[in-house]
Amino acid sequence: MELRLSTAVAVVTGAASGIGRACARALIGEGARVGLIDRDEAAGSALAEELGPDALFVAADVTDEGGMRSAVDTIARRFDGLDIVVGCAGISGPFGRPVDEIALADWNAVLAVNVTGPFLIVKHALRHLRRSSMPAVVLLASDSSFVAAPGMVPYNASKGAVLQLTRALSVDLAIDGVRVNCVCPSVVDTPMARADLGIGPNGFAAADFPVQTPDEVARHVLYLASPASRPVNGQALVSDFGYLARSSFPA
Ligand SMILES: NC(=O)c1ccc[n+]([C@@H]2O[C@H](COP(=O)([O-])OP(=O)(O)OC[C@H]3O[C@@H](n4cnc5c(N)ncnc54)[C@H](O)[C@@H]3O)[C@@H](O)[C@H]2O)c1
Repeated sequence: MELRLSTAVAVVTGAASGIGRACARALIGEGARVGLIDRDEAAGSALAEELGPDALFVAADVTDEGGMRSAVDTIARRFDGLDIVVGCAGISGPFGRPVDEIALADWNAVLAVNVTGPFLIVKHALRHLRRSSMPAVVLLASDSSFVAAPGMVPYNASKGAVLQLTRALSVDLAIDGVRVNCVCPSVVDTPMARADLGIGPNGFAAADFPVQTPDEVARHVLYLASPASRPVNGQALVSDFGYLARSSFPA
């Protein structure tokens, strides 16, 4: 399939690790120029160096409005425009903690990164996207947008919000021709999932549940970011090995 991304300029948040890093690499592989945003300066700079002159790293926190505005403007100035926003930055927050033991600060932190973060990047990318001939936004939601993983109340709530943020943005930005979609993977082998699930250095090899790779998710993201998915808008691409489709019927 021809993705037609070779002239595109993209910005990826959470680009220093996991799915964001895979998306940045895949976009560079398609010939795009890519702005990398992350709060992890060391990993972000190292990735930019590895990817070469078509990548630019800007250290910023996605919850900081001034930082987001300036990061987006810096990237659009360097690459002369902006066509694609990929919102990957996310945190899982407290894992396995009963709801009456979740600190308000932890709740607020998850909502800030996972929901306010995508709002801010889209808000400040919009004036650049309006000048693009192929504007697209892809947000990282989760299968937790639809079903609740136990012990992750703030995360599940935040990912439900990302799904509805996707739909709401797609409706409001239709007038600007900006498509907004999200991807909703189940467990992906990244540092986040390994930490949450207590997975050691051998990774998920012995897991008795299906696990996907960041590269697999990146392919879904690139399709939704590409003109190849031109009629697709306001949608959630669920990659969960079919779990959501299964009824409880005992047969
Ligand atoms: N790993 C999974 O199983 C899985 C499944 C479904 C959805 N997701 C979602 O995919 C996205 C990426 O997750 P991942 O597994 O690659 O995680 P990860 O921890 O490997 O990477 C997340 C990146 O986001 C950055 N980040 C976090 N908070 C930030 C902030 N405030 N400002 C700037 N950067 C920040 C981190 O520094 C890190 O580089 C998240 O939104 C996550 O919720 C992950």
